Amino acid sequence: MTDRLKTRARPTRRQAMTTKYSDLLVEGYSRRTVLKGLLAGTALATSGLSFAAAAASNSPSTLTFPELSRITDPADHWPEGYRRQILLRWGDPLFADSPAFDLATLDGDAAARQFGYNNDFTAFLPLPWGSESNDHGLLVVNHEYAAPYLMFPGVTDEDYKEKLSEAQIRAVAASTGISVVEVKRDGAEWKTVLDGQYNRRVHLFTEMTLSGPAAGDDRLKTSIDPTGTVVFGSISNCSGGITPWGTMLSGEEGGMDVFAGDYTKLADQELVERQGWDEDENDGYGLGKYEPRLNFEAEPNEWLKFDWVVEIDPFDPTAKPVKRTALGRFTHEGAQVTTAPDGRIVIYMGDDDDFEYLYKFVTRDVWNPTDRAANKDLLDNGTLYVARFDADGTMTWLPLVAGEGPLTAANGYHTQADVALRTRMAADLVGATPMDAPEGFTPHPKTGRIYVAMTENEDRLPKGEGDAREQVNAANPRSPNPDGHLLELSPPGAPDAADHAATNYTWDAFLLCGDPKDAASGAFVHPETSENGWFTDPDNLAVDPAGRLWVTTDGPPDAGFNDALYAMDTEGPGKALPKLFYLPPVGSEVCSPTFTPGGKTMFISIQHPGELRLEDGEDATSMADAGTTWPDFKDGMPARPSLVVLVREDGGEIGS
Ligand code: FEO
Ligand code: CA
Ligand code: CA
Ligand code: CA
Repeated sequence: MTDRLKTRARPTRRQAMTTKYSDLLVEGYSRRTVLKGLLAGTALATSGLSFAAAAASNSPSTLTFPELSRITDPADHWPEGYRRQILLRWGDPLFADSPAFDLATLDGDAAARQFGYNNDFTAFLPLPWGSESNDHGLLVVNHEYAAPYLMFPGVTDEDYKEKLSEAQIRAVAASTGISVVEVKRDGAEWKTVLDGQYNRRVHLFTEMTLSGPAAGDDRLKTSIDPTGTVVFGSISNCSGGITPWGTMLSGEEGGMDVFAGDYTKLADQELVERQGWDEDENDGYGLGKYEPRLNFEAEPNEWLKFDWVVEIDPFDPTAKPVKRTALGRFTHEGAQVTTAPDGRIVIYMGDDDDFEYLYKFVTRDVWNPTDRAANKDLLDNGTLYVARFDADGTMTWLPLVAGEGPLTAANGYHTQADVALRTRMAADLVGATPMDAPEGFTPHPKTGRIYVAMTENEDRLPKGEGDAREQVNAANPRSPNPDGHLLELSPPGAPDAADHAATNYTWDAFLLCGDPKDAASGAFVHPETSENGWFTDPDNLAVDPAGRLWVTTDGPPDAGFNDALYAMDTEGPGKALPKLFYLPPVGSEVCSPTFTPGGKTMFISIQHPGELRLEDGEDATSMADAGTTWPDFKDGMPARPSLVVLVREDGGEIGS
C-alpha cells in the first residue's frame, strides 16, 4: 500500500484458512497446489512436521546470524557479532557549504543542501563506475514523503498546514525527492565525502524533461510549459532501480497527494476515478497556497506530470532528470532492471494499490556496454506489458500497445500517448490479473527467477462476491489478505539464460505471510520458521551477493510487533525459512537493503521513526507524542529518518 503522509489503516478482517505450512517440505510438491487449496477452501494433507521444530539448533538455513527476538522500543536492534553505524540523518549536510541542521532556521534553501526525510530506495554505485569497489561509491537515495507534524515542534497533524510558515512548508517539500552522496570506508567506519563532485539533491523544484510517447501531448501542456516536455520536480519517490549503465530509476508513487484544490474540476474524471484519488490526502504539505501549479483548478494538467519513472544520472550532477513516459503512468513502487540474453533491457514494475497490476518494460534496442552515452534514450522505445496469471501455473505478459488487441481508437487508444497516460485503464482492457498491492519486485541474478511481494489487501473478496476483479484469483488466493504473500516467477531459459524479454513464464507461490501457528491466517512458510521469523506485509525485496532474499515489511503492528528486516534462502532446505535480522525503532520501517559488491557492507534506510506512539501503537500526532527521538535521543530534537550501515565485526559477509 502506498505510504503517503501516514502509515495506512490496520488490517483487521481474517477468514479461516486451513492449509498447512508443512506441505512445503513435500518433495516436488507444487506450492501452487496450496493456493488451489486456499481457493477451494479445502484442507491439504500435511507432512507431520510440527512448529516445535523451530527450536532445533541445526537450522537448514545458510544464514548463520543469531536471530533477534521481537521487541518494539525506541531503539534499533541488530544481531550479535554485527556493528551498526548511523551514516546519514535527515538534515545532515550533503555539501561542504551545507548549513548545519537547525529546526529554528530550517527553510527550503537549507533543506535542499541537506539529506532528505524518509529515505526509501537506496543503492550503492561503486566508484569509479565499472569497478567492484567495496569501500568507495555513491549512495543514491529516494526520500518518499515527509510528515510535517513530526518535523517541527508546536504543530499537530491537524493544524500544521495553518501553523507552519511558508519557509517551513518549503523545507518540508525540499526534504523529499532524491539524494546522491559520495561515501568512503575509513577503517571500520563509513564517511560521507562532502566535497564529492557528484553530490546532489533533486526535489520538487528541480527542472526535468518528459520523454517518450506522452512527451509533448496536449494533456501535459501547462502555463509554464507550453511544450508539454518540461516538469518541475519529482515527488513521492518510493523504490527504484539501477540500470547497467549506472543511472537511477526512481518510482513516483502517488504524487497527487501534494495537490490542492478540487479534483472534480479535472478534465478526465474517468482517469481521476481510476487513479484512486484520496480526498483525505489533499494538499498534504500545505503547499497549494504558495505554488499555484500544485492546485488542480489553477493548473489542471500539472498532476499528469507526476507518477512516472524518472531516470537520473548520478555521475553527472548537471544532467536533467528525465521522466520516461514509455514505462507508463501509475503509482510506481519501483523499477527493477535486468537484461535479456540478447542485450535488451527489461524493467519490472509494481503498481502499489489494491487490485493493481504487475508490469514490465522491454526496450526495443540492446544496451551498449562500452559507450555509456549511447544508452541515454534507450528507455524511450520499447514495449510495456502487464501480467496475467493463470491457474495452470503459466503467466502471460500482455502487450500494452495502441492499435493492438482491445487498445483501439474506438476504445480511446489512438496513440501510445493514450496508453502512457491511461495505463491502468489499458491494463484493465487487456485482462491483466489484479494483485494484492504489489511492491517489491526483484530478479535473482543466479537463478533467473523473479520474486515479487504483494503487501496485503484487506478488500479481496471470495469467489462469487462483489465485482469479479476484486474476487480471489489463482495468484491472490486469500480473502481478505491482511498479511500479503510472495510469488516466484520463472522466465524460460532460467537459470543460465533467463529470457526476461519472453512473454510466457511460469509462476509459483513462494511464501504466504502470516502466523503459521494461527490456522486462520492461511500462512504458508517453512515449518522451521521461528516465532520471531514469520512476518506480514512484505514490501522491499533484495537479493544479496550470496543469492539470499532479504525482505522488509511495511505494515502497522497489527500482529503485535514492529516492522523489520528478514532474510531467507531461495533454494535448498532453507528455502522460504525467514530469520529476523534487524529491528528498527518504534513506528518505523526498514527500506531497501543494499550491499557492496562483496556483500560485506549493508546499507538500509530507516523511514518514519516515531510515527507511532510507544504506549499504544496508535499514530503519533506531533513531535511531542512520537514514539522515539531516535537516533539522537536529545530533548527538543525530533526523530530523524536515517541511513544505517551494518557490517560484521569479523569483516565477513552479511548474513553468512
Ligand atoms: Fe512507497 Fe509502495 O511504498
Ligand atoms: Ca508499503
Ligand atoms: Ca514500498
Ligand atoms: Ca514502505
